[in-house]
Amino acid sequence: MTTTPAEIPFRRIDHVRFFVGNARQSAYFYRNAFGFDVVAYAGLETGLRHEASYVLRQGEITFVLTSPLRADHPENPHLMLHGDGVQDVALEVDDVAAAFEAMTRRGAVAVTPPTHREDPDGVYEFATIRAYGDTTHSFVNRDRYRGAFSPGFRPLDLDRYSPRTFHAVGLKAIDHIVANVEEGKMQEWVEFYENVLGFSLLVHFDDKDISTEYTALMSKVVQDGKGRIKFPINEPARGRRRSQIEEYLQFYGGPGVQHIAMATDNIVETVRAMRNNDVSFLRVPPAYYELLPDRVGPIAEDLHDLAELGILVDRDEEGYLLQIFTKPVADRPTLFFEVIERHGARSFGKGNFKALFEAIEHEQARRGTL
Ligand code: FE2
Repeated sequence: MTTTPAEIPFRRIDHVRFFVGNARQSAYFYRNAFGFDVVAYAGLETGLRHEASYVLRQGEITFVLTSPLRADHPENPHLMLHGDGVQDVALEVDDVAAAFEAMTRRGAVAVTPPTHREDPDGVYEFATIRAYGDTTHSFVNRDRYRGAFSPGFRPLDLDRYSPRTFHAVGLKAIDHIVANVEEGKMQEWVEFYENVLGFSLLVHFDDKDISTEYTALMSKVVQDGKGRIKFPINEPARGRRRSQIEEYLQFYGGPGVQHIAMATDNIVETVRAMRNNDVSFLRVPPAYYELLPDRVGPIAEDLHDLAELGILVDRDEEGYLLQIFTKPVADRPTLFFEVIERHGARSFGKGNFKALFEAIEHEQARRGTL
């Protein structure tokens, strides 16, 4: 008999940890291009001998960028295999030990059992399990911790950075984090989130085959009980040409995080600031904007602003959303970002997929990987 797993009270996405080749330079990129503040650091100067980490924050979003300092760092093979990428998606929970116990009892593979780290700022608790590919989920609790991030990290000397001369970017929170998994594996990972984490399937929008003459993918979305944490999971479906999901799997060397969507209250200002900071976005054909009024009806934003910046619009039964996708942020065509502004809509922009696939395939053709 299967029973519905008891709900684990997840609070939010606490942070996303990236394993990268050069964390110092990545921090510069996410600060100066994406508008994050660099708030904490751990490395040689703080007594850490094997890796360096920078903690970046914008709104409620926290990124941790980590690089190995030595040839014998245990995670070096991941860097060789994947290039820069998301290593861990950490979720905040009420009780780390209880969450870990419940998930491992339901079949999660443990990476790190419940662990306390302590310094004069208090106690930080975490535990880690495996997810798709080499990606992990940590479960953290910082109720008894007052420090900058976690023990071992020190607040960064702000003198190290120049004053900002650009407008605030205005990213507020992580809206969703998307996984690409191998063909035929999507359902397995949906069931992992349902059975192990107690997530539920968000059925009402992206629950069917998304395939066009251009490319093809299958996508399902799982979310936590409160609907604050949303993880779409993609797998490639057979298309005429090599799909963007297959391209990702090849260049990442397996499943992993495809994109992180970050919410803003003013996408026009956010995207304008990011473009001024040299972030490259996917562009859709101009015809997209000619068809837009008929497709989505009235919206508050100025169509000229959206067309100028390449911002996409979609509507569902509950409202509309505005979204835009960056190009991959490293040389490998793997991780990219989405900026999203929701006006009631809770879906993920399915109506834009066809226009987007055309834009992505244009980029794939330029890379010779189509
Ligand atoms: Fe998305």
